[in-house]
Amino acid sequence: MFRFSAILTQVRISEKFIIVRNMAKNPSVIIVGAGVSGIAAATKLLENGFVNLTVLEAENKIGGRVCSVEFGGSFVDLGGQWVHGEKGNLVYQKVKDLDLLSTSHNTFSDNTYYLSNGSIVDKDITDRLFAIGMEIIDDKEGAKNGTGSVGDYFIKVFYEAVSKEFGHNENVLKIAKLLESWLEKFFFCLNSESWFNISTNGAHVFESCEGDQQLNWRDKGYRTILDVLMKKIPDATKQLPLDDKIFLNKEVSKITWDNNTTNFNGVTVNCSDGSTFNADHVIVTTSLGVLKKFHESLFIPELPPYKINSIEGIGLGTVNKILLKFPTKWWSNDLKGINLLWTEEDRVNLHKESHLFGPSENSDNGRCWLEDIFGFYVIDSHPRVLLAFVVGKSAPKVELLSDELVIGGCMYLLKKFSGWKYEIPEADEVLRSKWSSNPHFCGSYAHVSIESENKKASAEDLAKPLISANGKQTVLFAGEATNPSKFSTVHGAIETGYREAERLIKIYK
Ligand SMILES: Cc1cc2nc3c(=O)[nH]c(=O)nc-3n(C[C@H](O)[C@H](O)[C@H](O)COP(=O)(O)OP(=O)(O)OC[C@H]3O[C@@H](n4cnc5c(N)ncnc54)[C@H](O)[C@@H]3O)c2cc1C
Ligand SMILES: *[C@@H]1O[C@H](CO)[C@@H](O)[C@H](O)[C@H]1NC(C)=O
Ligand SMILES: *[C@@H]1O[C@H](CO)[C@@H](O)[C@H](O)[C@H]1NC(C)=O
Ligand SMILES: *[C@@H]1O[C@H](CO)[C@@H](O)[C@H](O)[C@H]1NC(C)=O
Ligand SMILES: *[C@@H]1O[C@H](CO)[C@@H](O)[C@H](O)[C@H]1NC(C)=O
Ligand SMILES: *[C@@H]1O[C@H](CO)[C@@H](O)[C@H](O)[C@H]1NC(C)=O
Ligand SMILES: *[C@@H]1O[C@H](CO)[C@@H](O)[C@H](O)[C@H]1NC(C)=O
Repeated sequence: MFRFSAILTQVRISEKFIIVRNMAKNPSVIIVGAGVSGIAAATKLLENGFVNLTVLEAENKIGGRVCSVEFGGSFVDLGGQWVHGEKGNLVYQKVKDLDLLSTSHNTFSDNTYYLSNGSIVDKDITDRLFAIGMEIIDDKEGAKNGTGSVGDYFIKVFYEAVSKEFGHNENVLKIAKLLESWLEKFFFCLNSESWFNISTNGAHVFESCEGDQQLNWRDKGYRTILDVLMKKIPDATKQLPLDDKIFLNKEVSKITWDNNTTNFNGVTVNCSDGSTFNADHVIVTTSLGVLKKFHESLFIPELPPYKINSIEGIGLGTVNKILLKFPTKWWSNDLKGINLLWTEEDRVNLHKESHLFGPSENSDNGRCWLEDIFGFYVIDSHPRVLLAFVVGKSAPKVELLSDELVIGGCMYLLKKFSGWKYEIPEADEVLRSKWSSNPHFCGSYAHVSIESENKKASAEDLAKPLISANGKQTVLFAGEATNPSKFSTVHGAIETGYREAERLIKIYK
């Protein structure tokens, strides 16, 4: 008890000390959202002497799209899962010496394709075709030459490369055709509903970090990064005094940022539960989806046209995860995943049966959501779980189906594609994300769409602070989608939190 209060006193003293030394005024800041960008901003501000901080989070926990959940004894991630790359990756740089990451295996490293008619596609050919696809993805310079959608660009370059390597080979072309829609889902539908909606421009503005693209968290999933940001790791006695500044279940409903020219004295933030907060500045970190859906009602006065243009124009997709837990590990040790390829005949037959997998309003012209699951994958963190992604147009719709229907659909796929090889027990539990229907996310993450190009919508515009009547940068924007080159990642989101904190630090220096 004594030690505890002694620590608190010390913290208070040092906070005061910093204020006196660094700041003429004690500015107050509200951060809307406690995802990684909000937490990053809060920690950077605290470390620079800003003590009047309030973090308002709508959910009942922090982390946002970093959401690690215990599932039958181990942790799994419903959102951000892998650290993508090392060089220039803030997350990697922070944790590389802390023994928190493992490289033990790569979920997507084995490309064995299972066909819907119960066979495996010639692996020598699919390995080459996949490699050709990968080369196109990695060729950022080539993409600069592309115009229009990545779909148009990819298909053109892919078949050119295939015929260059194999000549006119009917068998290879047949397999390439089977693989085409899988490649679309694997490479692009993680971003958008169709690769015809994604701009080739996005392919080269996105900056990937060199190094291992699939670093796994050893123990508790990606949420470990929150403890690293708050300095609970590696030494809990050095943690930043942030916990008591974070308020959960506080859904912000109004941000009044420019009351009036004559008597403007800061921003007022109202929450759905009737509570009100005032501050000199607010950093809005809510997702692009939340801004798309709620910006009109959220801001008083309304946002300027350039800002609305960026919110409406930047692309947003939904990708969801389905995690299936089995009573036993029924797959072989060397299995990394089961990639699913439909034969045309089976696809047509599936449409006739699609009513078995949910109400027809959930399918799209008879297209069944099962087609938008491109495979089942072994994950590092859980020995008896397989991970599937639902992508494309189906992703938001599957959120509305019952767990029973989802398990049933997944079991149907597993048995149809690999039942000839494995004895598969029924999955006993399912855990899935609902990023689209949750009003605190309204989608997964941003991309550069054809619409972004047409509207000249940019992350730079989304990031620009709003200046209030008193001439101050009052409303600041952070979050994954405001990162011009590292959108759609955790490390990119953290960069934006730091960027906005630095903006405020500079004002008061
Ligand atoms: C399925 C999926 C898989 C992914 N996989 C990876 C991966 O492997 N590696 C990787 O690097 N990245 C991955 N990402 C991306 C990464 O998770 C995100 O880019 C990042 O977590 C976004 O952080 P953020 O702080 O910008 O936004 P968020 O995490 O969305 O934080 C915003 C916070 O604001 C809160 N909020 C919303 N509305 C309100 C309101 N009205 N009032 C108060 N609070 C509100 C939200 O609840 C949320 O906590 C994945 C994302 C998804 C969805
Ligand atoms: C399955 O379909 C593929 C591609 O159409 C075909 O080559 C293969 O012979 C079929 N296999 C079986 C067992 O029907
Ligand atoms: C881009 O296109 C031009 C003209 O067709 C061509 O000369 C050049 O080699 C292409 N560059 C790349 C990187 O593909
Ligand atoms: C994708 O493009 C189609 C047509 O080009 C359009 O109707 C649709 O709204 C777009 N979808 C998204 C999510 O932008
Ligand atoms: C500011 O308040 C005055 C008087 O209440 C009002 O006339 C004026 O329209 C307000 N200005 C803005 C920008 O809201
Ligand atoms: C915000 O809350 C305050 C205090 O309850 C209230 O006076 C104000 O009208 C509210 N603002 C809006 C826009 O609802
Ligand atoms: C923090 O800032 C708010 C808004 O400016 C102010 O009302 C409050 O008194 C401040 N709190 C402290 C402890 O200074």
